[in-house]
Amino acid sequence: MKILAIETSCDETAAAVVEDGRRALSSVVSSQANLHASFGGVVPEVASRAHLQLVAPVVDAALSSAGTAPDELDAVAATIGPGLVGSLLVGASAAKAYAWSWGLPFVGVNHMEGHLHAAFLEDPTLALPTVVLLVSGGHTMLICMQEAASGGVEYRLLGQTLDDAAGEAFDKVARFLGLGYPGGPAIERAATGGRPDAIAFPRGLAGQGFDFSFSGLKTSVVRYMRANPLVPIADVAASFQEAVVDVLVAKARRAAGEVSAKAVCIGGGVAANTALRERVEKVCRQDGRAAFIPSRSMCTDNAAMIGATAWFRLRTDGPTPLDTPVDPNLRLPLV
Ligand code: KG4
Ligand code: ZN
Repeated sequence: MKILAIETSCDETAAAVVEDGRRALSSVVSSQANLHASFGGVVPEVASRAHLQLVAPVVDAALSSAGTAPDELDAVAATIGPGLVGSLLVGASAAKAYAWSWGLPFVGVNHMEGHLHAAFLEDPTLALPTVVLLVSGGHTMLICMQEAASGGVEYRLLGQTLDDAAGEAFDKVARFLGLGYPGGPAIERAATGGRPDAIAFPRGLAGQGFDFSFSGLKTSVVRYMRANPLVPIADVAASFQEAVVDVLVAKARRAAGEVSAKAVCIGGGVAANTALRERVEKVCRQDGRAAFIPSRSMCTDNAAMIGATAWFRLRTDGPTPLDTPVDPNLRLPLV
């Protein structure tokens, strides 16, 4: 079964053709990061207009690079939430129009569920239960992916952020340090050569349950910089990154032990961070547990993960009615 998937929830216009939920025949991502960089963040109206210009050419590129003609497709999928409402509308409306005109079923997909499924595209043998650390610009969640009684996959929320998302903390601190947008890669670059142990920034909610808090850390960076204006930026960036990685990995590790997970997996844009990737691998090696670290392009927003999820959803729920609206606050279906 071949599914054409479209993802436009934020500032990436993406399309992919995915076979049987496990194999990406193509994955095209057109990033708008340069368009938004001068504003220091995503401007929703600018994003919607760019999606409108890019969606058809990106879909054409995904079909031709997969060598797939529309009459070889079995369904058309799109992200219907969570995300920016104008951006979501462009991708979902385009997918519904393609589906209707080609006489194919439409499948509406939850963006966060897409991030959870990204790992299956690169490791179809991934064993369950797996603890997934999902860290993006809008979310920070620890989820146990487990087999459902129906034979499908279900998600149990173990913990989440009580304030800022991890990616949001990277973006806000980068902006404060004048490092530009997007903040994660900018902090990672700035941290090169810096000392991770130079400044003891706080580890929010360390040792307490599986929830996260990053707003105190951000405030602490601001206070420290005001009191020590001459401190090397590399040390601030490296120490900040270390504080984020420390809490993320400590909690994921403890959660994996608690649910006897076979593997720990990471997903979402922040999972592209090298320090985080290396630390997860290291603790999993120490614990004798598998670590699944998807490639960077599979961690950040893409449509292949939406096509993979659509295949699962189509099998369990069937097609999504064409009058289903997009939902900027769509929640992950949890058990
Ligand atoms: O999943 P994603 O591409 O979009 C959302 O669904 O939010 O995640 C974007 C977030 C941004 O906050 C960005 O700064 C962060 O992921 N990010 C990183 C890195 N690359 C992207 N954070 C830390 N290190 C990175 N290398
Ligand atoms: Zn995302």
